[in-house]
Amino acid sequence: MTSTETEKKRSSFRTAIVLVAILIVVLLTCVPYLVTIAPAEEAAAERATTDASPIFGVTIPPGYKQWQLIAPAEEAAPLDELRAVVGNQTAIDAYQAGKLPFPDGTILVKRAWKRKQSPDFASATVPGAATTVQVMVKDSKKYAATGGWGFGRFINGRPVDEAQHRTCFACHDARVKNRDYVFTRLAP
Ligand code: HEC
Repeated sequence: MTSTETEKKRSSFRTAIVLVAILIVVLLTCVPYLVTIAPAEEAAAERATTDASPIFGVTIPPGYKQWQLIAPAEEAAPLDELRAVVGNQTAIDAYQAGKLPFPDGTILVKRAWKRKQSPDFASATVPGAATTVQVMVKDSKKYAATGGWGFGRFINGRPVDEAQHRTCFACHDARVKNRDYVFTRLAP
């Protein structure tokens, strides 16, 4: 081998080492990033499907804790709950106008808490632990088979099973069909 050939080999060997080093640096920078985002994306995708109720695909509407009150309610033992039914603006407008059936886009949310004796005043009852969040969404086409309403019942933010969702419409249908399947009246 001539000395120029040896020199050439050495220089391409050096280039190769530099390239490998660059590759290692790139991999070391990217891998932790890829490792952290991949499961996060999977989790988000999973949440999007499992956070929706079975049968209806209803989700907890964002911001419902700021919605206007339609009426409170109380449930006797064994549930022993305090409830508050709230609605989005479409719901409130329909209630105030006394409009039935409710228009598409109406969302009603029933919040519920265990009844708790006030620690500050014996005869007063205050909300204890939150129990369920129940949602009704009006979409007369999508939910034509259930009076135009989609139902969702959530505990700790997760929807309950399909069997429970099969009971919703039956009870609302049997008792308040004439009020567009809605029990709650606007509190005076
Ligand atoms: C056995 C009867 C019954 C069943 C089953 C039932 N509900 Fe209701 N629902 C009621 C009553 C009664 C009210 C009135 C408020 C109250 O007393 O808590 C109500 C109120 C509601 C409200 C507030 C709007 C309204 O109609 O007043 C929502 C939202 C709701 N229910 C969702 C659901 C969902 C979701 C399911 C199924 C997981 C369900 N309900 C199953 C009886 C029932």
